[in-house]
Amino acid sequence: MTDKDQEIIEKSPRSLDQALRPDSWAEYVGQEAIKENLRILLQAAKGRNHQPEHVLLYGPPGLGKTTLAHLMAKEIGANLRSTSGPAIERVGDLAAIVTNLSPGDVLFIDEIHRLNRTIEEVLYPAMEAGVLDIVIGKGPSARTVQLELPPFTLIAATTRISMLSAPLRSRFSGGTFRLQYYTDDEIAEILRRSAKILKIGIDIDSLKEVSRRSRSTPRTANYLLKRARDFAAVNEATLDLKTVKRALALLEIDEGGLNQTDRDILTLLIEKFNGGPVGLKTIAAALSEEEATIEEVNEPYLMQTGLIERTPRGRTVTKKGYEHMGADAPRTQEKLLQ
Ligand SMILES: Nc1ncnc2c1ncn2[C@@H]1O[C@H](COP(=O)(O)OP(=O)(O)OP(=O)(O)O)[C@@H](O)[C@H]1O
Ligand SMILES: [Mg+2]
Repeated sequence: MTDKDQEIIEKSPRSLDQALRPDSWAEYVGQEAIKENLRILLQAAKGRNHQPEHVLLYGPPGLGKTTLAHLMAKEIGANLRSTSGPAIERVGDLAAIVTNLSPGDVLFIDEIHRLNRTIEEVLYPAMEAGVLDIVIGKGPSARTVQLELPPFTLIAATTRISMLSAPLRSRFSGGTFRLQYYTDDEIAEILRRSAKILKIGIDIDSLKEVSRRSRSTPRTANYLLKRARDFAAVNEATLDLKTVKRALALLEIDEGGLNQTDRDILTLLIEKFNGGPVGLKTIAAALSEEEATIEEVNEPYLMQTGLIERTPRGRTVTKKGYEHMGADAPRTQEKLLQ
């Protein structure tokens, strides 16, 4: 076992992310349009000897936002300072971070939708004019001091773009980029690399099976690969297609890559609500799940695969959704779905 291997096993899934995180553009599979746009942005800034403008990355978890931020910082030879929305609780926290940046740094704020409005308002001038307005004192004697900040590039990531205020969104002058789900071939390529790093011997058919069931998401794919490896090791089986299928069945991942919660959502909509429409709150309450998890993790994939649709009145199951669950669409619904 290599050191890296050992490290991966001993630590949380976060370190699996780190160990398998691509550290060159060439290793970063897919998202071609975004990569191209970002590279142009960075190279043009370099050519003009300017600090690159601020960028916002959004999309479901595990598609590679943090990885892109790392690659961008590396491309311009800058330090990456990472923080997250929930970690910045007070204006002072943000002030401490931005005033401690070195010229040219990249500041990465993950989960930026969790920043509160007061802090957002301090961020605006920092993004636009490179200054920080700090209020000193309280009441009538309060006064504002303006601090000049070192030039920096903000890269922000969010899984919930709709929660960002319009003024904040508009300040990402370098662009807002939406990460796409990956194709099965792209995921297979990512898995080939991961298997090599983790020294997992796996045949191409098994690799493709993991790809198909990975919710089109690199992080999930890497996670499933590792679980399948563990399953094979514990059962003293070779990591072939049969073993992979058994491992995935144990994890309750079905042929379409849906997990138990995905299926619970479909079952609920079909059996209790005649296919919908049903509001997010109702779904979350009925399944005792967090609304945010359903909205950020389950729904995007169910919509991507065309199993549910989002209408103004709520979520409905599509014909394909009924088929996936082996259920018959109700007559009235069927008409709507045609
Ligand atoms: N395009 C890619 N090519 C290869 N591997 C990738 C790619 N995108 C993501 N990965 C892998 O998936 C893992 C998760 O990616 P990353 O942490 O960047 O996702 P994220 O979008 O930031 O997720 P979250 O929203 O949960 O923070 C990475 O460590 C890496 O191993
Ligand atoms: Mg991330």
